[in-house]
Amino acid sequence: MRQTIIAGNWKMYKTVAESVDFVRQLLPRLEPFSNVERVVCPTFVALAPVADVLRGSAVKVGAQNVAFNKEGAYTSQIAPGMLQGLVEYVIIGHSEARKYLGETDEDINKKAKIALEYGLKPIIAVGESLETYEAGQTAAFVGGQVRAALNGISAEQMASIVIAYEPIWAIGTGKNASADLANQIISGAVRGTVRDLYGDAVAGALRIQYGGSVKPDNMADYMSQPDIDGALVGGASLKLDDFTKLVEAAAQVK
Ligand code: PGA
Repeated sequence: MRQTIIAGNWKMYKTVAESVDFVRQLLPRLEPFSNVERVVCPTFVALAPVADVLRGSAVKVGAQNVAFNKEGAYTSQIAPGMLQGLVEYVIIGHSEARKYLGETDEDINKKAKIALEYGLKPIIAVGESLETYEAGQTAAFVGGQVRAALNGISAEQMASIVIAYEPIWAIGTGKNASADLANQIISGAVRGTVRDLYGDAVAGALRIQYGGSVKPDNMADYMSQPDIDGALVGGASLKLDDFTKLVEAAAQVK
């Protein structure tokens, strides 16, 4: 059985004070849904105070990125060791980091490996552009991203990894991929690729999220799909009611 995991990716939203206030209100609302793993990913500056509020609670903390070096003269970067004790998860390879920070498949692979080395659990995001989707190249492209991200990662380490399939054309656009389509890509290009690389047991245990315009009204559709094990949520995770409804829907369906 794969435990459902819902992670809120707050992107560059909420000040430190707003983040702390939000999680204080969110925590009692999410507490009842213990069959779902619940994660919030605030900005770096809010991680420590949010982690203080949530330590030992039902809601876990994730970072939105990590550097691929241990330390050094890398202005603006946050090393994996700096996240230890603050977060359990780290989002790696989000399409916005690929696009705006120029992160390559190779960078993402290095980040995943160093995160694992430091005991952080990577949520590795993959997904195709509208152009790739329209060209009918989604499966090949996403499969290639999965292979590249996992290069050199052992079967044992795969137990700590979550993959998020997020078609770029569905992120923040309100144009979500249909639940059927998302399940098809997730079961084929993502889980199928992991099966080719690691075999049935690892592929069967891997948790794979869908992301891209997930909202309370479409959440149940995604969660009813056999290969979708949760969601990576942007916009809707910024609102208390929406976040609560997402987790509630997941808890009911799964
Ligand atoms: P969205 O973002 O839910 O606002 O589409 C998803 C994401 O970028 O992870």
